[in-house]
Amino acid sequence: MSNELIKLCRKGSELIYSFSKDTRIRVISHYDADGICAAAIICKALHREAFDFHVSLLRNPFDKAMLRLSKEENELIIFTDMGSGQIEKIEDLNSMSIILDHHQSLKQKSSDNVLQINASLCGIDGNFEICGSTLAYTFSKTLNKKNIDLITLAIIGATGDKQYIGGFRGYNKTIIDEGLKKGIIYEKTEMKLWGNSIYDCLYYSTDPFYFGISGNKNGVNNLLHKLNLNNNASIDEIDKYKKKKLNSFLMLQLIKQGCEKNILDTIIRKRFFTNKAKYELEGFADLLDSCGKGGNRGLGLCAALGDKNSLKNALKIEKSYKKKILDGIITLVKNGFKDKKNFRYFYSNDSSLGGVIAGIAANFLTDNKKPLFSIVKNQGELHISCRGNQYLIRKGLDLGIAMKKVARNLGGQGGGHAIASGATIELSREEEFLKMVDDIITKQIKV
Ligand code: C5P
Ligand code: ZN
Repeated sequence: MSNELIKLCRKGSELIYSFSKDTRIRVISHYDADGICAAAIICKALHREAFDFHVSLLRNPFDKAMLRLSKEENELIIFTDMGSGQIEKIEDLNSMSIILDHHQSLKQKSSDNVLQINASLCGIDGNFEICGSTLAYTFSKTLNKKNIDLITLAIIGATGDKQYIGGFRGYNKTIIDEGLKKGIIYEKTEMKLWGNSIYDCLYYSTDPFYFGISGNKNGVNNLLHKLNLNNNASIDEIDKYKKKKLNSFLMLQLIKQGCEKNILDTIIRKRFFTNKAKYELEGFADLLDSCGKGGNRGLGLCAALGDKNSLKNALKIEKSYKKKILDGIITLVKNGFKDKKNFRYFYSNDSSLGGVIAGIAANFLTDNKKPLFSIVKNQGELHISCRGNQYLIRKGLDLGIAMKKVARNLGGQGGGHAIASGATIELSREEEFLKMVDDIITKQIKV
């Protein structure tokens, strides 16, 4: 662990303890699984120290929410899984702020009212080695060592941000080893087939997306018939031999779809389960993402905080969210992509879902030669989500930098990570955007 990071976390803890216990601390986080887990970790830790808290989960762009925040009277705000890309606006707020982020930062030094703790600025790779939740977990441990039980939320967040691709590594791996050693989680090598029945496991499988099976009633029925499996059987009821056959069929299907090796390696892999409730952590991350991006952010947060009723309700709404994703992917397959020299794009109706669909399509449907962009036109604005792959990253692709540059040039806002980023610009600047991005990416992958 980086000494610099620990030093900054201690400084942040001291700052929190300098406030009286009747302070209501404002917590602001991103609305995906990582953001929800990071917020849940900080809220639990604050609650344990007898502080009150008030949380909001935001989606990009954060401009409206930042304006709202500027009108609130807060003494201390903690930003998790965001903030480094909005640091100039945070500096302008009339309060002290702590930023806990792993996204690319706009600047290293901040004004005195902001303590920026960005893992990447402390020598830890924010793309693959640490996420908002693992960082929030580290911070919570400097507040109080007893917060070790929050490790499951940290790993759910890292899983939600897909940092398992290529194998958990760096600081994430240290945390997982800690969780295993303390008996908080256990590991088992398995395929991702979650659902009450084998039919549901296959039909609602969005990530991985099995072409001709995911979201395809006839495809699932035919496969189950061919393998002599009962649609309603639970995955645990299927005998070992048939399960192996099913796994082989699905892996072969993904190879046919042209998946990259590092994506294939994530299908049957070491998975982590909570020792207490036996939840598989990728399943839990999917559930939180469904809540956050499906318009039920509060429900997701309550489920992450451990509320049983919320968890039940979240499980109920997950299917309808997945159905929307499946419909989006199937439409995309039907309509195809638009091709530029060095990226592909498609139009979508919903910016949250567009990003998810782009991520799934990039990993399971397109070849790895170009990144994939989802573009949403909404109320005079263009919302862009883009997803790359590790092959392109090795060639020099950095979508975070590309989005930041192009948005700055066009008077918009953008940023994120090398492999997944986004931007919001004025609708009228679409043509300029498409041209500029193509030029930037062409330069990046030539280097
Ligand atoms: O919205 P989406 O899931 O595509 O966002 C991917 C990444 O890009 C996130 O890390 C998000 O913080 C960043 N992003 C951004 N500005 C935007 C949209 C997304 O910095 N306007
Ligand atoms: Zn994150």
